[in-house]
Amino acid sequence: MERRYLVRTFGCQMNEHDSERIAGMLAADGMRPAEGLDDAQVVVFNTCAIRENADDRLYGNLGHLKPLKERRPDLRIVVAGCLAQKDRGEIQRRAPWVDVVVGTHALPGLLDLLRRAEVEGPQMDVREYTEVFPSALPAARGEGWRAWVSIAVGCDNACTFCIVPLVRGPQRSRPIADVLAEVRDLAARGVVEVTLLGQNVNTYGRDLTDPASARRPRFAELLREVDRVEGLRRIRFTSPHPHDFTPDVIDAMAECERVCEHIHFPLQSGSDRILRAMRRSYRRERYLAWLERIRERIPGVAVSTDIIVGFPGETEEDFRDTLDVVERARFDAAYLFRYSPRPGTVAATLPDQVPPEVAQERFERLVALQEAITAERNREQIGREVEVLVEGVGRRGGRAQARTRTNRIVHLDRPLAPGTFARARVTGAGAHHLVGELVEVPVAV
Ligand code: SAH
Ligand code: SF4
Ligand code: F3S
Repeated sequence: MERRYLVRTFGCQMNEHDSERIAGMLAADGMRPAEGLDDAQVVVFNTCAIRENADDRLYGNLGHLKPLKERRPDLRIVVAGCLAQKDRGEIQRRAPWVDVVVGTHALPGLLDLLRRAEVEGPQMDVREYTEVFPSALPAARGEGWRAWVSIAVGCDNACTFCIVPLVRGPQRSRPIADVLAEVRDLAARGVVEVTLLGQNVNTYGRDLTDPASARRPRFAELLREVDRVEGLRRIRFTSPHPHDFTPDVIDAMAECERVCEHIHFPLQSGSDRILRAMRRSYRRERYLAWLERIRERIPGVAVSTDIIVGFPGETEEDFRDTLDVVERARFDAAYLFRYSPRPGTVAATLPDQVPPEVAQERFERLVALQEAITAERNREQIGREVEVLVEGVGRRGGRAQARTRTNRIVHLDRPLAPGTFARARVTGAGAHHLVGELVEVPVAV
């Protein structure tokens, strides 16, 4: 009987990209994707550790699997990703029916671990250092027209709220030639949009030396090289850290035609006092000045951000500083989070943890403000003509969902195949999307 796998992903884009590699390895081993739990012989949870509810979700899901595993002892349960790296042995203690715990650096060994689990019982590999980039593994990518490309793994920063450096380790960049080879290969196979992934893309290359020139490659150079790859039409990247956002990156963004006019620029807090406590080395005025330069240099650029509310010690005044920066920055979109203490981080040990009801109240005020700004930003688009790339069929059928270069979702009036480019006139704006009418029937690319 053909064996089938199910991979469930809980984290960020890097985590999703790792899932493509997990699926790729299982497929290369002769397995096929399952429809659901019932026809799967291998179930993989690719976990995230960024916030507390991620833990609860994993243990909840594993609890649901227990009776299934009792009925079908040949079912193999794998926990991968950042929570596997963080919780290690605790996973097998709390859920002894898990067969394999595979950390973020150990992905290439997954098939071996599964084989060993057959004979020896539960396996765990949570080594601390990436020897083989997941990029070297086979990938089962979800779509043929767009792809994520990892440019670096890990993070050398030490933001005091953040678990990522603990679970992903120090930054390791991929050589430019490797990244380019992957991008060229993708483009040759019909991929029109790539998203370059790294925890802090600006420090890309800091840990490398280019053998040809004996100096360190820089992110701006990488952008320019990727921009030259034949066949690509859109290049995105995530995320830059405001601290390292150097003018050469703004220039490269402005000058590279395929690099999209969108930047994810995480603010985290608008209070200098809190930024310092977070160990984010920029300050509010500097952040706003960068934003102004980016907007001057890249007309029409859209800016999104991440903000944390209720960091330890955050006073009403600090929070008002955040509201003030948000009002001035006029972000096109923002991902807003309530601070969640992560054991092992500096912030989790700080006194003055903000009571949950205070954090909740602030969170709601910030959401209301940002929603009004997002809606206003979206309304500004009405009447414009934009290039869109179709991503899928709209929920109501007979329509298509597409995305602008500025990362706005557009609901189109006619269905089109995913991966097609078209031009549309924006006729309406909702809270989180635009409505558009096709003005030019697309030509196949
Ligand atoms: N490397 C990326 C962030 C990865 S985590 C960057 O520096 O931009 C994604 C977002 O989750 C962060 O930007 C932050 O806003 C949020 N986050 C991280 N740790 C958190 C915590 N402990 N509580 C709440 N939000 C958190
Ligand atoms: Fe976390 Fe900061 Fe690194 Fe981003 S830059 S992953 S927030 S430590
Ligand atoms: Fe991503 Fe979550 Fe890990 S945000 S890097 S999957 S902790």
